[in-house]
Parts: sequence; C-alpha cells; structure tokens
Amino acid sequence: SYLGIDLGTSGLRALLVDETGSPVGAVERHYSVSHPHSGWSEQEPADWIAALEGAMEELRASYSEFNDLRGIGVAGHMHGATLLDASDEVIRPCILWNDTRSHEEAARLDAIDGVQELSGNIVFPGFTAPKLEWVRAHEPENFDRVAKVLLPAAYLNFYLTGDHVADMSDSAGTSWLDTGARDWSGRLLEAGHMRRDQMPRLVEGSERAGDLRGELLERWGLRGPVVVAGGAGDNAAAACGIGTMEEGQGFLSLGTSGVLLAARGGYRPAPETALHTFCHAVPGQWYQMGVMLSATDSLNWLASITGAKPADLTAELGDEVQAPGAVRFLPYLSGERTPHNDAAIRGSFTGLSAGTSRADLTRAVVEGVSFGLRDSYEALKATGAELPSLIAIGGGARSRYWLKLLASVLDVPLDVPKDGEFGAALGAARLGLVAATGRPVTEVMTAPEIGERIEPDPALTGAFDDAYGAFRKAYAGIRAVQ
Ligand code: XUL
Repeated sequence: SYLGIDLGTSGLRALLVDETGSPVGAVERHYSVSHPHSGWSEQEPADWIAALEGAMEELRASYSEFNDLRGIGVAGHMHGATLLDASDEVIRPCILWNDTRSHEEAARLDAIDGVQELSGNIVFPGFTAPKLEWVRAHEPENFDRVAKVLLPAAYLNFYLTGDHVADMSDSAGTSWLDTGARDWSGRLLEAGHMRRDQMPRLVEGSERAGDLRGELLERWGLRGPVVVAGGAGDNAAAACGIGTMEEGQGFLSLGTSGVLLAARGGYRPAPETALHTFCHAVPGQWYQMGVMLSATDSLNWLASITGAKPADLTAELGDEVQAPGAVRFLPYLSGERTPHNDAAIRGSFTGLSAGTSRADLTRAVVEGVSFGLRDSYEALKATGAELPSLIAIGGGARSRYWLKLLASVLDVPLDVPKDGEFGAALGAARLGLVAATGRPVTEVMTAPEIGERIEPDPALTGAFDDAYGAFRKAYAGIRAVQ
C-alpha cells in the first residue's frame, strides 16, 4: 500500500491507497493556528508531528493494508518557514502562508530587478523569502541560528527520512527558486540574505527523496524499505489527485477561496497578471493558477448576515440561469490576489434599488465570484493556456445554478466528477506510488470519473460578456473611493 499525507492549515489527513492507487481508508487529526498579533499566523511543527504519529497509530489499528506500506508522499500548505538550527532543533514557530507581517519586506524584494523574472511570481507577503527578511530585522538572534529553512511538507520529509530534502513545486513558492531552471537561484538567495547551504536538497515531487527512518519502521510495525517521495505543495498535489498534469488540462476549485489551475508544459511566467507560476510535482511540467480569496466565503458571508444557509440561498435561484441582473457584487471581502494583488481592496454592491430582493443579492454574489474567476481565466488564456474544458470541484460546485452560470461566464464546459477521492492527499499518495514503483506518471495521475458535463448556454454568453466588462471597470472606481 501507499500513503498520502496532506498537511493542511487546520489539520492533517492521511489517506491509504492500494497497489492500484484506489483509496482504502483515511484518518484525520486537527491542530490550531495561533495569531499572537494582528496579521500573524503561526503553527508549532511539534503539533504536526503529534498529528502524524496519532494518524499512523489509527491507520495501523484500522487497516491491515498499512502493514505492507511501500511508499509515502507528503503534501503541505505552502510558503511556511520552519527554521532549524545546526542541531536540527526548531528555532521558532512556523510562520504560515496566510501571515501578512512581512508585507514591507515583500514589497522591497519584489522591486529588485530580476526577482519576478527568476522566481516567476510577484513576491507576495505570504511567500517564504520576505518572512526570513522579517526575522533578520526583528529577531536577529534567531536569524543568526538558521542552519536550514524547510517548508512544512519538507519538515515532514525530514522527520520521515532524517534528510533535508524538498520538492520543486513547494520550493517554487519561496521566491528563492529559479522556477524555470528548477534550482535554487544564487541571485534570489543573495537578494534575501540567504545561503545555498541553508536550503534543502531538491528533488522532483515524484522522485525518491529517501527511505523511512529505521526508528519509524519499528514504531509503526513496518518491514521496509518504505520510499518517501519528494512530495508537493498542496495545489500541485491536488492537481496530481485530479489528473491535471499536462498542457490543456485544468481545474476550477470553488472552495472558501477559488483556484483556477492549469498544467503547463513550459515556463511562461506572467507576474504582472498576479497569476502564480510554480513547478509541477512531476519533471518537465509547471502549473499556473489564479487565486481568488473569497469564493464560497462571499456566499457564506451573505448567508450569515441574512440568517440563511448558503445552500438555501442558491436554491432560491432555481435551476435555470438568468441573464445578468442589475445588481453587481465585487467579491473582495478579504482583498484579492489574482488579478489585482491588492490586500486593501474591499467588496461592494452596486445597482441596489428599492425592489432588490435577497435572491437578487445572491445572484449578484454568485455572478461576482464567477466574474472574478473569469479574471483568472483571462489571465491564463493570455499566457497561451488553451483549456477545452475544466474539472469543477469544491463546495460551491454542488450548486447547479452556480455551475451552469460559471460555464456560461467562462464560456467553457465544466466536468463534474462523481463523488470520491481526488484531493491533495490522493495526489500525495500517487507521488509516493510513483516514487516507490517507477510506474509512469500518465498511468497513475489520471482524471476522476466524470458524472456530468455542464455546457455553456450560447443564448447567455453575450450578455455575460457585457456584464463582465462592467465588472472589470468597477474595480478602479471602487478603488478610487476606498
Ligand atoms: C498557495 C497558497 C495556499 C496555501 C494553503 O499559494 O498560499 O493555497 O498553499 O493551502
């Protein structure tokens, strides 16, 4: 059997799959995020280890297949800085991806000539390099002790193998990696006052990073050897789980935040669009994604202030998509990444009248989120990505109205998978399987079975194009009065 570990922000999920990659069972453990100051977001790496050990104990007790474990892959929340000293002790709590304390350091790094071109991205405050610049300025005694910087997934790799080893997809989110060359960049490290010897060894996500340590083999009752794969950042792992591996393949995730991700056969950074451009977890591939911060979160907000459930709100819209309404919603409740890279912008409703109903507001919200996702889709298309269809996943994809609306707003067919497993934990398990067996990626990283295809409605696409044009203009206007 093979094991996929998804080290998430709120908890760890461990999924066991069999020799064919089919799920056997999964267990979860939760931990907390601490916010010692406004904008800070930290976690204790020891909590991840406790969660992992608890999950392994439960898997071992629940599934006999665990005894034949042959490969492990780890997916992790990206960008977090786990600092180790020369004796591999954790120096301070891990500063997470959603921590914004280092926004000034990020802006300074971002302005340095060549940084965007080499790293492929804007230096966002959540990325790793500005975090280390913050530690250098505010905790110099900690900075001086840093012998290694590991991302959360690489810290689990270290616990599992005893080696400092990271994969390309996660490392691309540090602003220290030459994302095109798939190697640490001397220039980027220098810009961030870091050294190559402080970086882990790099492997591809689907390559062998090492073997499970003898002490863990014994504790978990395993014969070994158990291969540990390079692993992946959570979005690349999700792409492996859903079979988005090559040019022409993409998915749309309508969760708390919205993600539109396309696999790319080459390195075509477009930092000016605020798209993320990262290495994929398999050799020779990259991926690009647009990230919208408040997707179903926008609908959750409307539900909370109207005292309804999100599903009741969308049920009020019926099944037949109507032409765009008069009310517009800008979905920037927590600022926006793609396409604006604007942490300060906030949302708005326009076009309200005395006759506006709750259902009109719901329609405006799902339309506004759909237009925001079209911004990411347009940015992807402008880099040359051609996506004949997209797989739609996430909580929002349970609303038929929203799916039909999105298909027409984006003018692309949406494929909805049958229920099942296709997230980051499955992707991580698939990486473990490929690293342990050498089976071809194309054979293992396949798309899930599709339950239904939702086609765009040609009678509506023109009207939604016009409404999208108006949505595009509204940002600048609202920006000017905030
Ligand atoms: C990606 C990002 C998040 C984290 C948390 O750039 O910040 O998706 O990986 O899950």
